[in-house]
This record gives sequence, structure tokens and C-alpha cells, in this order.
Amino acid sequence: MFGNKNNITVFDFGSKSTKVLYATVKDKSIHVEDYEIIGTPQGAIKDGKLNDVNSVVNMLSTHLKRMKGNENRLLLASSEVVLRTFEMPKMGTKELKEAVKYEMSVLLPESLDHFVVDASIIDEYDRISEDGKEVKMNQLQGVAVNKKIVNDYLDFFNKHGGKISVVDVQSNAEIKLFTGNNPNISPKNDAGEDCGDIAIIDFGHQKTGITILEDKKLFLHRTLHKGGFDITNIISETLDLPFDEAEKWKHTNDFEFLKKNSMNEVESILYDEISNVFHDITMEISQIIEFFISMSKQKKLDRIYLVGGGSLIPGFTDYIHRYVNIPVELVLDLDNVTFKNLRNPSHVALLADSIGAVIRRV
Ligand SMILES: Nc1ncnc2c1ncn2[C@@H]1O[C@H](COP(=O)(O)OP(=O)(O)OP(=O)(O)O)[C@@H](O)[C@H]1O
Ligand SMILES: [Mg+2]
Repeated sequence: MFGNKNNITVFDFGSKSTKVLYATVKDKSIHVEDYEIIGTPQGAIKDGKLNDVNSVVNMLSTHLKRMKGNENRLLLASSEVVLRTFEMPKMGTKELKEAVKYEMSVLLPESLDHFVVDASIIDEYDRISEDGKEVKMNQLQGVAVNKKIVNDYLDFFNKHGGKISVVDVQSNAEIKLFTGNNPNISPKNDAGEDCGDIAIIDFGHQKTGITILEDKKLFLHRTLHKGGFDITNIISETLDLPFDEAEKWKHTNDFEFLKKNSMNEVESILYDEISNVFHDITMEISQIIEFFISMSKQKKLDRIYLVGGGSLIPGFTDYIHRYVNIPVELVLDLDNVTFKNLRNPSHVALLADSIGAVIRRV
């Protein structure tokens, strides 16, 4: 009753870092009152799923106490989230629900009964049918998530903190950052014109999420099972450092040796191995982009945006740019978003998805 619905909390669980964001929304601006990027205990979160309840309770102890009175949102990022855009004739709500279930079920590995399915209308238009009649059409964005993944989180919060009132998914949160009538990033092509054919790449620790938009609408979402972990692993093995120290080394090194003409033996092993990981990830991204370009109406991708902690490795942005020859931008700045206390500009890249989850779809 005394809760202020404008106080929104977002929980974004990663395998390496969990992001908790406190924001208020006024008109169309977001103010980040507070945030924390917490080291996730090893193994507590796997592929976006709750894996070890006790260590997550410890990790979130102060935040679980702050849930009361806020509108709490969960942001899911898992390779098991299924997203799809499709079109169908305009119909009543009840029929639409059934039709959406059918359209989504064709993509699911198991019976529909195991999934939570939702969809939103993202466009409406008229189409002339074969017999010359005008048919009202809807374009929809559907999402399906395994019930267990969602329920594990909802049960966890009910038991230890408070109620989650909105469950969002990573690509949807990203789409909201880039689209709508007050976007936080307004994509421009090299000529400075507004554009809508973009890729958003979330380079995380164990996984990399790729979301491609055609004309600002979801074209596809894919997850690669590679990320910052693979780089830390190389550093740890090559320099014979424990994993935690290799992480620190990665965060503080300028990676300038990757550009040097003459390297010592260790540097050249690091160079080869790190280049291999960059290459593997970039090649997969490039294949997905080529597929998009071949299928899309405009036959082009205007820009690639990078978010997620893994994208902070110096040189990664340039590497992708050189490989795919499409402008690449690391997201360190957002329009209409202010921070009470932004400790480091790089935190924007880690928090971007959570900020997208604050936005309501218009
Ligand atoms: N300043 C930095 N320089 C280099 N790497 C960084 C930096 N900050 C974070 N990282 C790396 O980013 C990764 C964590 O990013 P993020 O929080 O986006 O992943 P996650 O959400 O925990 O992972 P996943 O989504 O795969 O479960 C780690 O590999 C971490 O080492
Ligand atoms: Mg993540």
C-alpha cells in the first residue's frame, strides 16, 4: 500500500557477476539510484539458471532485505530462452493466445506444457490477400521459457526476499534500449542517419548472446557458449596463475602486447591463444550476420553494439570491426539515463541489460 511503484529493482544473474540495479522512472528518464555488481559464487548460476540456492542467498543478503515496497524484476539470460518473431492475421485475444502457443511450440524441444509462453504485438499492418481482400495483420514477438527456470527463481525470491512482479529476458531488455519512442541509444549509420538493422552482442563470462534486429524488430537471438571465461582460462594456464589472479590480470592489463611487432615467448603464446578465442567467437558472429544479411530486406547490417563484461577487454571491439567490416560500438553511454553514483564508466556495459529491463514496452 505504501510501496512506490516507481522504484524498480532489477536482478540480472550472471555466472561471473550478478547485477542488482535500483532505479526510478520519471516521465521517460531513468535514474539509477544505486547498483551493485556482485561476484557470483562459483557454480551458483549456470547458463542463467539458479543452481545453488544457499550461495545465492548469501550473495544477495542485503538486497533481499530491500525488496519490500519496490517493483522487483527478474532478467533472464539463458540459452534456453526461445524467442521468435512471426506474423498472423489480427484476431481476438483468446484465439491469439492459442495461435501464439502453436507458433512457439514448433521451436520447442519438449512439450509446450513445460514452458511459460508469452507474446507481444510489435506491429500492425494491412496485407492484400490472393483474392484481393485487405487483411489486417499483426507482427508478434513471442518468448518461451522452461517453467522450471522461472519457478526456481520465483520460489527463491518468495521464500527469501519478496515478490517478483515482472520477468523479462535479455534480448527483450536490449530491444527496449534501442527502440521505442524514447530510446536510450539511437542507432545511426555511418552517414549519420537513423537505422534499424543492428546487432547487439552481450559478451558475458560463459556465454555470448547475439540479438539481431531488422528494422528495429527482433530477427533472431542466439547464444554461443563462449565468453570471458575462455580468455581468463588461457591467461591462467599460460602465466600459471590461479583463476582469480588471472581474472585480476585480465581486468588490469591493457592488452597492448597484442599489437606489438616483437613479443617475448610468453606474450606470443598469449597472443596466439587469445587470438584463437577472439577468432572463434568472431567467426560465429560473422556467420550469423551473413545469414541475417542474406535473409534481410535491406541486405545489410548497419552497426554492432557490444555490452557485457567480456566486451571490456581492450582490442575486442577493433578485432570484430576488422573481421566483419561493420561499425562496432561498445556501449558506455546511454541517453535518458542518469546515475547517482557511477563508479566507473565501464559499469554501463555491464548494467545495460538491467537498465533495459527497467523500461516498459510502449
Ligand atoms: N574491465 C574488464 N576487463 C576485462 N574483462 C572484464 C572486465 N570487467 C569484467 N570483465 C569480464 O567480463 C565477464 C563478466 O561479464 P558479465 O557480468 O557480463 O558476465 P556474466 O553475466 O556473469 O556471464 P554469463 O552471462 O556468461 O553468465 C568476466 O569474464 C569478467 O572477467
Ligand atoms: Mg550475462
